[in-house]
Amino acid sequence: MSKFSLIYFLLWILLQVLVDVNCQSTPFKPNVIYRHTATFVDNKLYILGGKDVSNGTLVKRFFYLDVSVLYDTQRLSWQDLSNINIIPLHTDATSTKGGVNNDTLYLYGGGTNDINFGKTLNLTKGALALNEVYIYDTVNDNWDTKITMGNIPSKRVGFSTILGLDGQRIIIYGGYFNNPGYSNTTLYVLDLSNYNWYVPKISGKNPSSRTFHKANVIGKYMVISFGDGYDRKVESDILLLDISNNEKYIWTTKFDHSISNDISSPSSSTPTLSPTLSPTLPPSLLPSPSPSPPLLLNNKLVGVIIGSLFSGIFLSVGVFFVYKWYKNRQKQRENEFEKDIQISSLQKPMVC
Ligand SMILES: *[C@@H]1O[C@H](CO)[C@@H](O)[C@H](O)[C@H]1NC(C)=O
Ligand SMILES: *[C@@H]1O[C@H](CO)[C@@H](O)[C@H](O)[C@H]1NC(C)=O
Ligand SMILES: *[C@@H]1O[C@H](CO)[C@@H](O)[C@H](O)[C@H]1NC(C)=O
Ligand SMILES: *[C@@H]1O[C@H](CO)[C@@H](O)[C@H](O)[C@H]1NC(C)=O
Repeated sequence: MSKFSLIYFLLWILLQVLVDVNCQSTPFKPNVIYRHTATFVDNKLYILGGKDVSNGTLVKRFFYLDVSVLYDTQRLSWQDLSNINIIPLHTDATSTKGGVNNDTLYLYGGGTNDINFGKTLNLTKGALALNEVYIYDTVNDNWDTKITMGNIPSKRVGFSTILGLDGQRIIIYGGYFNNPGYSNTTLYVLDLSNYNWYVPKISGKNPSSRTFHKANVIGKYMVISFGDGYDRKVESDILLLDISNNEKYIWTTKFDHSISNDISSPSSSTPTLSPTLSPTLPPSLLPSPSPSPPLLLNNKLVGVIIGSLFSGIFLSVGVFFVYKWYKNRQKQRENEFEKDIQISSLQKPMVC
């Protein structure tokens, strides 16, 4: 093997590895999780962390749903990125997209302990009521409270919140609730023009309620991902609620691409963690702390890092072999040279 063919061989291996890393086309089906984060960036819904619903253990999964090829929630195209997940095991974190090109995933907070308060929580004791909302003015830096009216949802935790497509209403979904003094529906809308809660008209097949799921606005849909409380044999990990018509929302399993995904509201929602940890409004509706995030994940950056890592490893290995080959060659040459000398010295007398 010549020096160059060895280098080409190593480059070829490097290329194979990079292709393997970048094109994971094998179908991947994640376990049902909850308390994860779901962040919509560049037509992909990234799911990170949380717990396995079946046994409550923290999961190290990192994967995404490619929304550009999402047509039916019964056929989901998940792509696994877990092998590049360097984030510590965590649950109940919040996330948002950001960065100069809106292509960076920012992760905030979360817990690494394994306290499972969800099902034992006494909501009559702990939870804050939703008859009051806390409002933060990011321009004047002050807090305000508003008393809400109408069909006020019962106290609850572990629900999700999104901003409606018109920016005029907040839609909440799911969560744990047990106070019989209030209505008990899973889906409520808060009209921001008069702070009136109402139960929206809905058509389509009502899914079972979920807790500690996530909700994102993608296109004209509220997209619910995972969570506790559904049977995967009956319902998809992803629920779609068409919220384009305020007069009537529609539960559907089909994703209509005719409305550009770019219109999606920047708000990615987050279930409230606990009555004490977060106020009535979820963090996504409050001002995000200015970007000094503890962790930062950029898809392309990760690719570059992985790429350079493998390049580094293979180049080192390559350089090592080339060096070894060169050394051996040199040794051989020296030996041959010595032999030559010996031969010539031997031959000399013969020649002479
Ligand atoms: C939890 O359940 C998941 C899914 O069944 C399984 O893969 C995982 O190994 C379990 N973990 C523990 C600690 O039992
Ligand atoms: C990033 O997203 C925000 C909110 O959707 C938007 O206002 C801003 O123009 C976007 N920036 C870029 C560079 O796309
Ligand atoms: C929840 O708290 C209320 C009020 O303190 C109490 O009456 C009730 O027994 C508690 N329920 C449980 C299940 O602990
Ligand atoms: C709401 O409460 C009514 C009775 O108060 C009950 O029949 C119904 O099942 C409850 N719905 C949910 C979703 O808990």
